[in-house]
Amino acid sequence: MGQVTAELAWNEEVAPGYHLMALVAPEIASAAAPGQFVHVRIGPSYDPLLRRPLSLLRADPQAGKVWMLVKVVGRGTELLTQMEPGMPLDVMGPLGNGFPEPPPSGDLILVAGGVGVAPLIFWAERLQATYPDANVVSLYGAATEEALACWVDLAGRSDEFLVATDDGSAGEQGLVADLLPGYLSSRRIGAVYACGPRAMLAAVVGPCREAGVPCYVAMEQWMGCGVGACLACVVPAAGGGYVRVCTEGPVFPAEAIDWGRLT
Ligand SMILES: Cc1cc2nc3c(=O)[nH]c(=O)nc-3n(C[C@H](O)[C@H](O)[C@H](O)COP(=O)(O)OP(=O)(O)OC[C@H]3O[C@@H](n4cnc5c(N)ncnc54)[C@H](O)[C@@H]3O)c2cc1C
Ligand code: FES
Repeated sequence: MGQVTAELAWNEEVAPGYHLMALVAPEIASAAAPGQFVHVRIGPSYDPLLRRPLSLLRADPQAGKVWMLVKVVGRGTELLTQMEPGMPLDVMGPLGNGFPEPPPSGDLILVAGGVGVAPLIFWAERLQATYPDANVVSLYGAATEEALACWVDLAGRSDEFLVATDDGSAGEQGLVADLLPGYLSSRRIGAVYACGPRAMLAAVVGPCREAGVPCYVAMEQWMGCGVGACLACVVPAAGGGYVRVCTEGPVFPAEAIDWGRLT
């Protein structure tokens, strides 16, 4: 992990309210693993004061660049996505743990909800490159067809690709988690990896537990320091106590989290 002054190299609105952004940050690009994140200071002023955590969507060590998909939800992401290429950004990373090695056999299912697609695109790319025999099934859900940001990047790195939208404008109408039980009951599944809103994660974890399939979740949580010191990012741990999303995570085995105590 390091702190660098990166240069914003790319900023494109790829879906309404979703920006694909690239940073020139060779140190981060060469060290990054799928599931890890960067902690970005929004501009040179102290407003907003806190950095904002963003997953890595891709790292290209040859080009010295990392990519992120940013959904505008508040002041920090709004200011960030208004920045022009060429501007400097103070970035810490790569942070967090990343996805664990996949099991030697069985299909691998990736479940993405909304902007949660970002780390799963990086993971699918790594699986394709490192485990070419793995059958990667990706399930991607969003509110509407146009909100399926970067779907081509996930589809192109998956052996099978299905989408679900709330309004039925693309793929199945309904929740992406509802696509999962059919696979769990009909295939030999090695592991499930999920990133998205809390409700989606909970809906993925339950069926995996019942089917006895290992499940890993990439959690989002409000953050302060990003390096384990402030405890702003804790979530309840199974068996009592808490775990820090920034250092013990953001990727956890589903059974490490106390889903009942998670608000
Ligand atoms: C490990 C990690 C990886 C992330 N990866 C991405 C990513 O790849 N792309 C992306 O767009 N976002 C990602 N996020 C979420 C992103 O950090 C927040 O959306 C961002 O910090 C919001 O900042 P803001 O100033 O725009 O919004 P704020 O003004 O701070 O908040 C706007 C709204 O969003 C809610 N919110 C803010 N932060 C969070 C959070 N961490 N969890 C849940 N709700 C939140 C607030 O409660 C509020 O309702 C990630 C978060 C974590 C912890
Ligand atoms: S953000 Fe400070 S401990 Fe995790």
